[in-house]
Amino acid sequence: MAKGKKNGKISVIGAGNVGAMLTQLILERNLANVTLLDIDEGMAKGKACDIQDAASILGYDKVVKGTSDYSEIADSDVIVITAGFPRKPGMSREDLLNKNRVVVREISLKIKEFSPDSIVIVVTNPLDLMSYLAYKTTGFDKRKVIGMAGVLDSARCSNQASEELGITQTEVDSLVIGTHDTNMIPLFAHSKAQGKSFKAVFDQSRQSKIAERTRNRGAEIVSYLKSGSAFFAPSAACFSMVKSILNNENLTLCASAYLEGEYGLNDMFIGVPIVLGQDGIEKIMELELSDDEVNKLKNAAEQMQNAISRLGI
Ligand code: LAC
Repeated sequence: MAKGKKNGKISVIGAGNVGAMLTQLILERNLANVTLLDIDEGMAKGKACDIQDAASILGYDKVVKGTSDYSEIADSDVIVITAGFPRKPGMSREDLLNKNRVVVREISLKIKEFSPDSIVIVVTNPLDLMSYLAYKTTGFDKRKVIGMAGVLDSARCSNQASEELGITQTEVDSLVIGTHDTNMIPLFAHSKAQGKSFKAVFDQSRQSKIAERTRNRGAEIVSYLKSGSAFFAPSAACFSMVKSILNNENLTLCASAYLEGEYGLNDMFIGVPIVLGQDGIEKIMELELSDDEVNKLKNAAEQMQNAISRLGI
């Protein structure tokens, strides 16, 4: 088998908006076969049938199977956990904690039982905390449990910056670290528009505006949708991570990773730049941060520490 191509199987847990959209992206781009699992079997089967019916129109030969049976996730290269309750207007991601920790714990135990060699990407909120829970519950190597948020937050930052400048998003490249909540931290010295650092392009007030709009984007979308949260950009973000693993692309991207000393932090998941390849996290990049960014990261870590103690594991 070619390097990077493993079993060619992805399992997506949760057939809601992110799960279904991600499945469609994986099939449409002919990346891998998908097992789409939901405790609501009809939802998984119905969406799988519908996505499969589009194959001859869009021209893909990969297949999706809808199921509620966890034995079907065996031998997955990557398992993406999207299941859980979404935010409602006015809810913070952490308000979801009590509901979603039960869901993520149960799924993690099933993953450990049925697909112990897989790499796990967590999407369920509160993201960094649920990644920590999945890591502790599966007992997997720290490189094999990764939270999806940094790609999404960085993309949102790029969108805001490109709008500010009236240029296309392909000319912008952003890095956002920290936790996937109000403590996300856009790194302006390391983000670029048309090859120049954001620090050189935006004055302080425009930097604050971009940071603020990036931070609030998820809540803004929840407030428009009224029920449910964003799913187009989140599923695109997951897709890029799954692809980097399956094709061993070793992309550098931001994601929530288990830290053991990096950035001076320990025993927690926080968004940082990583290199993502066929074995999961190949490397955590330690970038130089400004004093202000260091303080913000410390603050995010303190809050994460408190949240972990409330998690009760
Ligand atoms: C958001 C949700 C997915 O940021 O956390 O839109």
